[in-house]
Amino acid sequence: MDKLNYKDKLKMTSLPKHIAIIMDGNGRWAKKKQQSRSFGHKAGTKALEKIIKAADSLGIAHLTVYAFSTENWNRPKEEVNSLMKLLNQYLNQYLKDSKNSNIKIDVIGDISKFDKDTQDKIKQLQELTYNKSGLNLHIALNYGSRDEITRAIKKIISDATKSKINIEDINASLISNYLDTNGIPDPDLLIRTSGEKRISNFLLWQIAYSELFFSEKLWPDFDENDLYEAIFEYQNRDRRYGSI
Ligand code: IPE
Ligand code: IPE
Ligand code: MG
Repeated sequence: MDKLNYKDKLKMTSLPKHIAIIMDGNGRWAKKKQQSRSFGHKAGTKALEKIIKAADSLGIAHLTVYAFSTENWNRPKEEVNSLMKLLNQYLNQYLKDSKNSNIKIDVIGDISKFDKDTQDKIKQLQELTYNKSGLNLHIALNYGSRDEITRAIKKIISDATKSKINIEDINASLISNYLDTNGIPDPDLLIRTSGEKRISNFLLWQIAYSELFFSEKLWPDFDENDLYEAIFEYQNRDRRYGSI
């Protein structure tokens, strides 16, 4: 039986403002096709393109995608190298296309671990797209929530030592402002593909009240209709925030 077309079922007046995605399953997708893991990662970038376009045309304000975690450095050197190569190809493509696109791009995570050329491209892309009015795309690169919170704590203590802030002023909202996601509303909806039901160090602080959607699909197979299905399910949840 064909899957329902979820787009027509969406309520356009109550879309999530921020969708976060753990794009998982590239390796298993490639293995099923008896291909290399890097083939899977390449297919993953194609799926990402489709989802960016779909989220933008729907009118979603923020999309955050987990592309490389602080723990992903522990993979075999060959895979890390191929991921870095793919990242650079992706950045080059985006730099070329940014004139004709309405997407605003920024990166969360500690980019100081990347080589100088990659860092320059990331900064250039952020500057080039700064005034765009479409979807805000946040790409998580060398991102880990515990690393992000650790960096925030160091900065808070340093600012307190310099009397830029008072200890009494430290509250949840101030802490949010010290995270890489400063200024971005918390995700309303978090999607993870590939059937794994875990968070893997992604946006731990920010997803306190996010709705979670786990898809069995491997990331390269995740398409527009899967995104609409996740939003449809989100729209049928009852968010209570601890109240009744
Ligand atoms: C997600 O796919 C992409 C990255 C983590 C970079 P995986 O590479 O984790 O694919 P699986 O989970 O091994 O199938
Ligand atoms: C999470 O996927 C990281 C990204 C999608 C970039 P992983 O494949 O690294 O997570 P685990 O190892 O299954 O927890
Ligand atoms: Mg994985």
